[in-house]
Amino acid sequence: MLELLRTRRSIRKFLNRSLKPEIIDQLKEAVLRSPSSRNLQPWEFIFVTNRNLLQKLAEARPSGSQFLQNAALAVVICGDETRSDVWIEDCSIAATILHLTAHSLGLGSCWVQIRNRPHDQTHTAEEYIQKLLAIPSHYRVLAAIGIGYPAETKPPHSKEELNEEKIHRNTFGNK
Ligand SMILES: Cc1cc2nc3c(=O)[nH]c(=O)nc-3n(C[C@H](O)[C@H](O)[C@H](O)COP(=O)(O)O)c2cc1C
Repeated sequence: MLELLRTRRSIRKFLNRSLKPEIIDQLKEAVLRSPSSRNLQPWEFIFVTNRNLLQKLAEARPSGSQFLQNAALAVVICGDETRSDVWIEDCSIAATILHLTAHSLGLGSCWVQIRNRPHDQTHTAEEYIQKLLAIPSHYRVLAAIGIGYPAETKPPHSKEELNEEKIHRNTFGNK
C-alpha cells in the first residue's frame, strides 16, 4: 500500500486506448467495497465511457475538467443528501479508493471537483452534470474521476517534499 501511495500522482493525459470490461469490473468492485458511515452507502457511481458524454463532461467547468475529453472512463460520483448527512465524506473515500485502485491496475486518474464549482455565470457544474446525465436533484454531484492508460509519467513526490510540519505530537503545535 505504501508503495502505491509513494508512486501515486494525478494523471491528466491518456492514451487513446479503451479499458477492457474486466478492468472496469475491478474498478466497480473497488468503489462498492468502500466504507461508509453507518454503512448507508448514500452514493451512486455513473461509469461514463460514451465519447460524446465524455466530451460534454469535459465542458462541465471553464477550467480543470477539460482533460476528461481524452479519458477512457469518467466515474461521476453522486451522493444522496437525503440519505446521509456525511455523503461528502463517504463519496470522497470512494473517490480516493477508485483513484488508488486505478493506479494499482496501471491506470492513471485524476479528480475533477464538481461540488461548489461553477459551470458558467448562471449554472453550477453540479446542475450542468445533473442535467447531462439525468441525475435526480437530491443526488448531489461530488466529483468526476477521469481514468485511462497514462500518456504522461510523473515522478513520485520525494520524501523531502513531505510537509512534516503538518504532523503534531500529542497536542497542536508540539513538534
Ligand atoms: C478534492 C480534490 C479536488 C481536485 N480537483 C481537481 C480538478 O478539478 N481538476 C484537476 O485537474 N485536478 C484536481 N485535483 C487534483 C489535484 O490538483 C492534485 O491532487 C494535486 O495537485 C496534487 O498532485 P498529485 O495528485 O499528482 O500529487 C483535485 C484533487 C482533490 C483531492
